[in-house]
Amino acid sequence: MIVGVPKEIKEEENRVAITPAGVSAFVSHGHGVLVEKGAGLGSGILDRSYEGAGATALDSAAEVWQQANLIMKVKEPQLVEFQFLRSGLVLFTYLHLAASEEVTRILQEKKVTAVAYETIQLEDGSLPLLTPMSEVAGRLALQVGAWCLQAENGGRGILLGGASGVRPGKVVILGAGTSGSIACQVAAGMGAYVSILDINPSKLRYLHDIMGGHVTTLMSNRANIEEEVVDADLAIGAVLIPGAKAPKLISRSIVKRMKPGAAFVDVSIDQGGCAETSRPTAHHHPIYIEEEVVHYCVTNMPAIVPNTSTYALTNATLSYGLEIADKGFPKAFKENAALARGLNTYDGKITHTGVATAFGLALTPLKEVIGR
Ligand SMILES: NC(=O)c1ccc[n+]([C@@H]2O[C@H](COP(=O)([O-])OP(=O)(O)OC[C@H]3O[C@@H](n4cnc5c(N)ncnc54)[C@H](O)[C@@H]3O)[C@@H](O)[C@H]2O)c1
Repeated sequence: MIVGVPKEIKEEENRVAITPAGVSAFVSHGHGVLVEKGAGLGSGILDRSYEGAGATALDSAAEVWQQANLIMKVKEPQLVEFQFLRSGLVLFTYLHLAASEEVTRILQEKKVTAVAYETIQLEDGSLPLLTPMSEVAGRLALQVGAWCLQAENGGRGILLGGASGVRPGKVVILGAGTSGSIACQVAAGMGAYVSILDINPSKLRYLHDIMGGHVTTLMSNRANIEEEVVDADLAIGAVLIPGAKAPKLISRSIVKRMKPGAAFVDVSIDQGGCAETSRPTAHHHPIYIEEEVVHYCVTNMPAIVPNTSTYALTNATLSYGLEIADKGFPKAFKENAALARGLNTYDGKITHTGVATAFGLALTPLKEVIGR
């Protein structure tokens, strides 16, 4: 198969869908790899590194799209890329189709075989191609939260780890899943007082076991949330109810009672945010102050560390990309149920329940298209 990797063109997107190690893997499996020149620059990867691994660097996106039969990307196709979509092309990328009727319709109309990173799902319900970005966002939550607390950003001027003879800052984390538990470990590592809340006792038990006395685990309920958040120097929202909007756990009245200059990083903003005062921001202007609290609500946090994010993402996507290239359609999907759940559109049909429901479109059961 010929695998094509165009440069990402969505605003503020500097990740790329393949690394030189990924190129070597495809080449060693007998596939060709075409990379648009400059595609890796935003992630610190030079064309010559791709070429050294066996890829061919092409001048334009058009050449890559037209010559490849499997396109690997990071973000959904943008308007100027619609012209390259065609019947039989396999597109493997984050799609988030339920949020875009326009992209759904064009993939349907052009009969693209579209496989979404975010709907690939293992038997236990986990989403292996979303987890790496949650990990990155969880670690970043402390980095950006500490920055929000700096005086020049309107913060309380608190150093989370404190100093000899000086109390450390208090970090409160809502949600002990992938992002929240990593944020918890980083916060404890920085020397802050940390408390973490979740509705799932086994998540709390796990953190209690691995972190010992370094963090306080608490059941998430209204009373505990209020008591902890009003006392926080830095609060972090990292909750998720799969397939639903984030619950508004922090009311405006709680935010009003927080300390002036406290910081709030809402990682769950991509699902609507978990505070009444949350509204989405972008990297060029990531913070705003409301009720005297510095809010950071960027919906695509991993984009500020494209180098790390590219490697974390491609570590997770590569084996699926290889399976598609090695076995083709429908064999790869027939033999790997997790990959099959990633199929969103095929030959003009919608094959994912969430996407069909979002726009009232007809759903074609997976087994009808892959024969399984
Ligand atoms: N902003 C960004 O750039 C960015 C990047 C990656 C992930 N995210 C988002 O971060 C959020 C968390 O992702 P994740 O992978 O850690 O999810 P996850 O499913 O691993 O964890 C979510 C946790 O929230 C808990 N939860 C649900 N309701 C709760 C409540 N009422 N109180 C306390 N805890 C509750 C769940 O029990 C679970 O442990 C998601 O919305 C995800 O989309 C955002």
